[in-house]
Amino acid sequence: MASSTTTNKLFSAFAFSLLILSPLALDVAKADQPIQDGLSLSFYDSICPNLESIVRKRLKKVYKDDIGQAAGILRLHFHDCFVQGCDGSVLLDGSASGPSEKSAIPNLTLRARAFKIINDLRHRVHRECGRVVSCADLVALAARDAVAVTGGPDYKVPLGRRDGLNFATAQATLDNLVAPFANTTTVLAKLAVKNLDTTDAVALSGAHTIGIAHCTSFTDRLYPNQDPTMDKTFANNLKTTCPTANTNATTDMDIRSPNKFDNKYFVDLMNRQGLFTSDQDLYTDSRTRGIVKSFAVNQTLFFEKFVIGMLKMGQLGVLTGNNGEIRANCSVRNKDNFLISSVVEDEGSQASQF
Ligand code: HEM
Ligand SMILES: *[C@@H]1O[C@H](CO)[C@@H](O)[C@H](O)[C@H]1NC(C)=O
Ligand SMILES: *[C@@H]1O[C@H](CO)[C@@H](O)[C@H](O)[C@H]1NC(C)=O
Ligand SMILES: *[C@@H]1O[C@H](CO)[C@@H](O)[C@H](O)[C@H]1NC(C)=O
Ligand SMILES: *[C@@H]1O[C@H](CO)[C@@H](O)[C@H](O)[C@H]1NC(C)=O
Ligand SMILES: *[C@@H]1O[C@H](CO)[C@@H](O)[C@H](O)[C@H]1NC(C)=O
Repeated sequence: MASSTTTNKLFSAFAFSLLILSPLALDVAKADQPIQDGLSLSFYDSICPNLESIVRKRLKKVYKDDIGQAAGILRLHFHDCFVQGCDGSVLLDGSASGPSEKSAIPNLTLRARAFKIINDLRHRVHRECGRVVSCADLVALAARDAVAVTGGPDYKVPLGRRDGLNFATAQATLDNLVAPFANTTTVLAKLAVKNLDTTDAVALSGAHTIGIAHCTSFTDRLYPNQDPTMDKTFANNLKTTCPTANTNATTDMDIRSPNKFDNKYFVDLMNRQGLFTSDQDLYTDSRTRGIVKSFAVNQTLFFEKFVIGMLKMGQLGVLTGNNGEIRANCSVRNKDNFLISSVVEDEGSQASQF
């Protein structure tokens, strides 16, 4: 009895303070997502209490100077988590042993500055707390802040991820990510492998409410034949930006509010102004059309489902406890772990592959 009263009191105090501090904030309890073993909402409370404020303060400045970097960071988190789990492996530079996740084709359009921003955060955080915070957690926090700072929902991120010792192969990177040319069947199938359902797929695609894309990601819908599902005026404007299929140029992904995290991406889809096949087909396909519509008319609903999707995605294949390491430099594995790891590899283990 006593303990449940205490819990209730704590809970209402918590809910109350959230309400006052930030009316939009969605806490994990409300999103009702289980937290993976080894991760926790209070992971750094004693060992790096200022972590979240250091990160957010810095990113507010970075994003204020160049709002596009928010999109770059959000995408970095997606790529990290989909390939070999959220273990910061996407940040690792390639080595002599083979091409890394970074040099795989989908990486080539990750923003170079996103990597620098994470390493800079790592420097600031480690300077204050010592080497206790992983690069993988910094990416997860920075992605959350990218969403919050651009106008999207704010939410608590379970922390305690450890950094992976190995990057993924270029092939694993390709296999795990989704191509912009994919239809809804392929998108749903690729996300189902990660235990992400249809609603998660539509909600997470809504990340394309911010950011840019290169011509090569969508000109298959313009040349040689124009995709009949694309709005004609929209197509003509894209052709001006990309006069040929391989033009080296970029365009905003959400024509209505390119730098604001809102539900306009779904309004774009309903107006046949989605940029990629993977986007527009969510409206064409009867399995996802209703969800697109519901998000287009109700931003609160989109934000709620997006947070659920992010919490699921952000906990994919995490390393916790004594697994992995806390990298001293997000771009390279720690020297002291190199030896151990090469011994394992020499013994013919498959550990380095996935
Ligand atoms: C459903 C499958 C997805 C596909 C096929 C896809 C594909 C792409 C492609 C091709 C680009 C543009 C790359 C370029 O040409 O420069 C892009 C950009 C972006 N994607 Fe996705 N994506 C998907 C899911 C996601 C998810 C789940 C997130 C995050 C939660 C995300 C966040 C972003 C962001 C923020 C950008 C803009 C990046 C920038 O401005 O630098 N995407 N995506
Ligand atoms: C991966 O992309 C980033 C950003 O464009 C770039 O800095 C990095 O050098 C790339 N990695 C490789 C191995 O090409
Ligand atoms: C979706 O794409 C896959 C792979 O390209 C293809 O086999 C399938 O027929 C497509 N489905 C629909 C409904 O267009
Ligand atoms: C594309 O254009 C950018 C900026 O103008 C330039 O930095 C980059 O090297 C170009 N890429 C290619 C493949 O030509
Ligand atoms: C929008 O979605 C929220 C969250 O699910 C819900 O509480 C609200 O009733 C919805 N609003 C409308 C007008 O349907
Ligand atoms: C991190 O490692 C990269 C790759 O070895 C190196 O270029 C960079 O200077 C290092 N950064 C720091 C701060 O040591």
